[in-house]
Amino acid sequence: LILMLLNVSLSFSEVSKIQFSSNDNSLKFVSSKYVSQSQTYQGKLIKVRAYEKIIYVKHPVDSNKQVINIYIPEEYFVGESINGFNTNTAPIFFPNHIGGYMSADPAKFMVTEQSTPNSMNNRTVLYALSKGYIVASAGARGRLTKDLDGHNIGKAPAAIVDLKAAIRYLKFNDQIMPGDANKIISNGTSAGGAISSLLGASGNHPDFGPYLTALGAANASDDIFAVSAYCPIINLENADMAYEWQLSNIHTFDFRGKKGDLNNEELGVSQDLKKMFPPYLNQLSLKNVNGDLLTLDSNGNGNFKEIVKAFIVKSAQKAVDSGSDLTHYSFLNIVHNKVMFVDFDGYMQYIGRMKTPPAFDALTSSSFENNLFGNETVNSRHFTNYSFTHSKEINPQIADKLQINMMNPMHYIGNSNAKVAKNWRIRHGAKDRDTGFAIPLMLSMLLQNKGYTVDFAMPWDKPHSGDYDLDELFHWMDNLCK
Ligand code: DHB
Repeated sequence: LILMLLNVSLSFSEVSKIQFSSNDNSLKFVSSKYVSQSQTYQGKLIKVRAYEKIIYVKHPVDSNKQVINIYIPEEYFVGESINGFNTNTAPIFFPNHIGGYMSADPAKFMVTEQSTPNSMNNRTVLYALSKGYIVASAGARGRLTKDLDGHNIGKAPAAIVDLKAAIRYLKFNDQIMPGDANKIISNGTSAGGAISSLLGASGNHPDFGPYLTALGAANASDDIFAVSAYCPIINLENADMAYEWQLSNIHTFDFRGKKGDLNNEELGVSQDLKKMFPPYLNQLSLKNVNGDLLTLDSNGNGNFKEIVKAFIVKSAQKAVDSGSDLTHYSFLNIVHNKVMFVDFDGYMQYIGRMKTPPAFDALTSSSFENNLFGNETVNSRHFTNYSFTHSKEINPQIADKLQINMMNPMHYIGNSNAKVAKNWRIRHGAKDRDTGFAIPLMLSMLLQNKGYTVDFAMPWDKPHSGDYDLDELFHWMDNLCK
């Protein structure tokens, strides 16, 4: 009421100043509000101060999910160091648990059930803390989130807006909180890998400003130091073409429990989409390390395809070097433990196809991604012209260009209004069929071409999954931070 009365007599700028200062006060990190937690991990007692379920915006629209958990090693409160880090220098590891573009809870330190071999347990959190990283993990809204009136409030770009708000909270509190908020390293898998890469690509970009202001995000920047992304499901508006470029010769699918053969119509769609990929790839003007332009001809062949093959060969070689016998795979040519080349089509037969064409923008608007690109009142929409014009919906709708762009890191890399993370580690399992290999590769090449440091690999035999190589991941992070 007081604000409403003030509103009458103050100019707009004065009112917004008042809102800003109250906003900033309430988002202050309170160091005394913690509980002590401890558990043994790999023979070492890990003792933390746990700051849980802190609402990271002034005006939450979902106070169950717009929360952050922060875990700080007890050592940092008594002047000790871990792994060469101390209370001032400890990097902040920022894992998210987003999957399927659904809402997510923040990661937790104490998890009662036994660890399972996926990224949704707390193994990564424990590992990070054991190496002296502060762990901050934020929840986020997802494509099914609704408010009490039944309106959708988690469609794109809600998840990225939420994680950016959480980053702003950490940077806003950098002086009071242990750790170095200039060393935030984001981590996620699949849709979570997508949002992780988007965080790294779109730092401080004004597209997100109005959304962050509406939530009352802390008055701070949201660019980050480094990105770890496993099998990021990104570049959604171009992913259908990339999928068919790779898998058009594979005519059976195995999609979330449903198996079958592509029908004639789907085979036709596959051919259409396959033909659309080379023009898209060519206009990106990506270059290899020698500065040669990467291209594909109208049949989909060219040096870009050779790079994809080279990454598969490199992956197989690493497996051979660490003792795996791959000689029984007829698609690999191996001479004296050297992987000489891979037969692309043979390899695709081996890994198989998961999704039916179009893999992402389904003609019936029935995919996760269609659902992601809904709006407050429409649940699912198209996001490519191809699927919009070929839609099987009675009243097809297509998402706004800006909404689509705001979910695509490719759109922000090289954009002068975005502060892009300097360091990137991207992993995409060599057996992952959830999106085409070209997708993470184009991201890596674009980043590299724009001067960012990228470590990209396709680990052998790994399906759609993440956090399977924590020793290597944290070795990479240690090198960046020391
Ligand atoms: C995820 C997997 C998919 O195949 C997809 O299309 C979107 C998200 C996931 O695992 O998060």
